[in-house]
Amino acid sequence: METTFLMVKPDGVQRGFIGEVVSRLEERGLRMTAMKMMQLDREAAKEHYAEHEGKDFYEPLLKYITSGPVVAMAVKGNSAISLVRDMVGETDPKDAKPGTIRGDFGIDVGRNIVHAADSSESAERELDIFFNGSDYQEYKRVEESWVYE
Ligand code: RTP
Ligand code: MG
Repeated sequence: METTFLMVKPDGVQRGFIGEVVSRLEERGLRMTAMKMMQLDREAAKEHYAEHEGKDFYEPLLKYITSGPVVAMAVKGNSAISLVRDMVGETDPKDAKPGTIRGDFGIDVGRNIVHAADSSESAERELDIFFNGSDYQEYKRVEESWVYE
C-alpha cells in the first residue's frame, strides 16, 4: 500500500469542497490516515512548493496557497499516488476531464481546488512537512476486504 498527500486548497475550503473531496476518496475505497486544517505561512508554502521557485507563477502561487485555511490529508491505498492524481485531474482545470475534481469544479489554473503529490518522493517529502508520526492512525476500514481481492 502507498500513502499519498492531498490538500484542499484555500479556494476548495472557501467553496465548501472539503466534504466532496473526502467523499470521493472514501467512495473510491481509500483510507484517510491523517487530516489537519491549518493556514500555511509563507515559509511553509515555500517549502511545499520549493520545486517551483523562480517560475513566473511562483509568487501568485505562494499568495494563493497562504490566502486561507487548507485541509491536509494522508490517504492510503493500493497505487494511491497515481490513483489520487488521476482523481484530481490536469493542473489547469480547463484541460481536466469531467469526473475529476478539477474538471468538475474548476476553471482557472490559479484556482484549482486541490493539490496531490505527483510521485512517491514528493508524497514522502510533503507528508513530512505537514504531519508527525503521531498524527497517523493505524486501522483498516471494514470494507477493505470488499475493495481489494
Ligand atoms: P499541485 O502541485 O498543486 O498538485 O499541482 P500540479 O502538480 O498539478 O501542478 P504543478 O506544476 O505542481 O503546479 C503547482 C501549482 O501552481 C499553480 N500553477 N499555476 N499559472 C500557471 O501557469 C500555473 N502553473 C501552475 C497551480 O495552482 C498548480 O496547482
Ligand atoms: Mg505539483
